[in-house]
Amino acid sequence: MVIQNHPIRVLTVVGARPQFIKAAALSAAIGKISRDVIQEQIVHTGQHFDPNMSAVFFEELGIPRPSHQLPGTKGSHGVSTGGMMAQLDQILESESPDLVLVYGDTNSTIAAALSAVKLGIPVAHVEAGMRSGNMSMPEEINRIVTDRVSALNLAPSELAMSNLAREGLGGNSYLVGDIMFDAVNLFAGRSNLSDKTRELLDQFSTNSKFVLATFHRQENTDSSENLREIISGIVKLASEIPVILPMHPRLQKTVSDLGLLNDSIPGLTLLPPVSYLEMLHFQKHAQAVVTDSGGIQKEAFYLRTPCITVRDETEWPETVHLGWNRLAPTESKTIVEFVLAAMQSRGTAGSPYGEGQTSDKIIDLLQRGSWNSFF
Ligand code: UD1
Repeated sequence: MVIQNHPIRVLTVVGARPQFIKAAALSAAIGKISRDVIQEQIVHTGQHFDPNMSAVFFEELGIPRPSHQLPGTKGSHGVSTGGMMAQLDQILESESPDLVLVYGDTNSTIAAALSAVKLGIPVAHVEAGMRSGNMSMPEEINRIVTDRVSALNLAPSELAMSNLAREGLGGNSYLVGDIMFDAVNLFAGRSNLSDKTRELLDQFSTNSKFVLATFHRQENTDSSENLREIISGIVKLASEIPVILPMHPRLQKTVSDLGLLNDSIPGLTLLPPVSYLEMLHFQKHAQAVVTDSGGIQKEAFYLRTPCITVRDETEWPETVHLGWNRLAPTESKTIVEFVLAAMQSRGTAGSPYGEGQTSDKIIDLLQRGSWNSFF
């Protein structure tokens, strides 16, 4: 059902690496719908700007070219978020979409949601209702504010739905499952890997063992105490089993500022940020994953690789309850102990985040049009 006499014009705002992946899944599904029904244009805020944090995802995942590419604004959270809002205001005024679609919990998410709602444009939030309960995380603030101003909250789990209901937002919240599950299903079978990744996978699959590590969260990278514990854990782990560590630019910068790592640590392979397909392959073939990322916890779960999450809490507790994920304190000894134990463990089956048909459910809700009566 189309609720208006012209196609629904959706303007999707992305800016950070995980959003490119989520948008790849939903945009592919929207692209299959007639343009008489729904039309999407993409705006890139420029939050992530390094080619291997951004352009590589658009190329590899076939995401439609952004109609607007913003230069991004580097600086504090306020400077960066405010800078994006100022630029988005102009685009939203000139494009005047029916609906703005945002993903997740980054500064690009909150910037787009606030710009849109203040201009009277309804917002749809994919991955609504996630809560860690930790207000010192910038992502937690971004989530709470974005959900509050969104006309359509698209929740990945029952827990997210109950969080939204508790905050009085149940009336415009819908359980759609996790869009990242769609992305894993869509892309995990593809195999156009770089020579370097193929070489690493071959090397480690011969030895049949490696652990994949990723760390980028501000609470870790901006605290030299936390970072020293994590890096010391990774170095110890690498003396037991080979470790691959693709490095986010911020991790690269802080470890080099603090002189914590070099290229010749036995067992440790340092990489620049890798592409999504490479990341999926590494996760699939690893004995275990150790991370502070939100998204990787779930990808590891979908690919049935045990995961250790170095954080005090998780927005995805179902992965822990099902035995695929375990939280570790930021202590090098415990990190090593937990990863070595995880390598021997298996969780149980379960589908707490839907069946990988989230795109279809979202498109259906966009067409049903309840968002139209938000204001
Ligand atoms: C952001 C999200 C986080 C998400 C992560 C995925 C917020 C608040 N956080 O964190 O939720 O999990 O993306 O990667 O939005 N930088 C570069 N090159 C780039 C991108 C960033 O050098 O391509 C630098 C920035 O200038 C900054 C630092 O890395 O100094 C952090 O980048 P930023 O975008 O602020 O946050 P992320 O840590 O990437």
